[in-house]
Amino acid sequence: MVGEIPPGVGWTALLTAYSRAQESREAGRLFEDPLAAAFVAAVHGAEAGGRPDLPRLGPAKDDGSSVFWNGFRFFLTHRTPFYDRRTLAAVRDGCAQVVFLGAGLDSRAFRLGMLEDITAFEVDQAPVHAFKQEVLDRHGAVPTCVRVPVVADITKGLSQPLLSAGFDPAVPTAWVAEGLLMYFSRDEADGLLDEITALSAPGSRIVGEYFSCRWENADIEYETLETQDRAAWDLLLRELRYGPVADRPGEWLSSHGWAQQEVTTLAEVGRRTGRPVPSEFARLGATRLWLFVGGLPAG
Ligand SMILES: C[S@@+](CC[C@H](N)C(=O)[O-])C[C@H]1O[C@@H](n2cnc3c(N)ncnc32)[C@H](O)[C@@H]1O
Repeated sequence: MVGEIPPGVGWTALLTAYSRAQESREAGRLFEDPLAAAFVAAVHGAEAGGRPDLPRLGPAKDDGSSVFWNGFRFFLTHRTPFYDRRTLAAVRDGCAQVVFLGAGLDSRAFRLGMLEDITAFEVDQAPVHAFKQEVLDRHGAVPTCVRVPVVADITKGLSQPLLSAGFDPAVPTAWVAEGLLMYFSRDEADGLLDEITALSAPGSRIVGEYFSCRWENADIEYETLETQDRAAWDLLLRELRYGPVADRPGEWLSSHGWAQQEVTTLAEVGRRTGRPVPSEFARLGATRLWLFVGGLPAG
């Protein structure tokens, strides 16, 4: 057992790792993330942040018995390869820096095969970094590119911590915001995109997601949920601010000077893999969960 994973939004990083560990065990897996299982194993059996009703892995079960997990597993598993491919495409197209915003337990610096001419900045809260580093060190994990952990509360400003960590605003950058904007208020999301725009050289990209629906207890038939499912759902609803909810991604991007390169939904991404959207996730608005790529013209 290693150090503390923070309660609240930090716990969602562990859920994401659990989905990746689970998918990595599947015969017809969409991707392979060997470190995900190491992160999960490091906390297995522990309680979350002193809350006895919420084990760290909450309802993340493999056996189909958790309504919460049946829906969220689909969400987390399908967005991972979307971000993998767009990150690699941005690197191929000339982005020599990648900034993982709310990087959590993302192991792309280890598993995507990016080489040493690429610098990957991983931005997250200090306790998430501490937990992650302890597991990485224990497993002797070696990144394939230059990996730079950056401790920051993104809502309080990104420029100073990134620049101090060696980020170069003259270099085209891929900004990767997986599982982040929904935890920001609309103002915070706008502020973040303004800051990203100011730090972005021509040819930069942004990949992200948010949903233009608000989750209600009725969407998950809350009254029928088991205790752990309820605790996980309650935690998520407490943390969600929904980000740029009012607009479709294209409008949001263009209002900050970015061109929409791609917009799709999680339902569509799932359909392309040939796996049907589970009813538990369809009820949560899979067709209004947007995934997007924006770009700045090359100089
Ligand atoms: C759902 S997890 C993200 C998963 C991660 N992107 C991945 O691919 O595995 C959300 C992450 O965002 C981080 N986060 C949320 N708000 C943040 C903020 N204001 N500043 C820094 N990190 C934040 C959390 O600590 C958590 O690790």
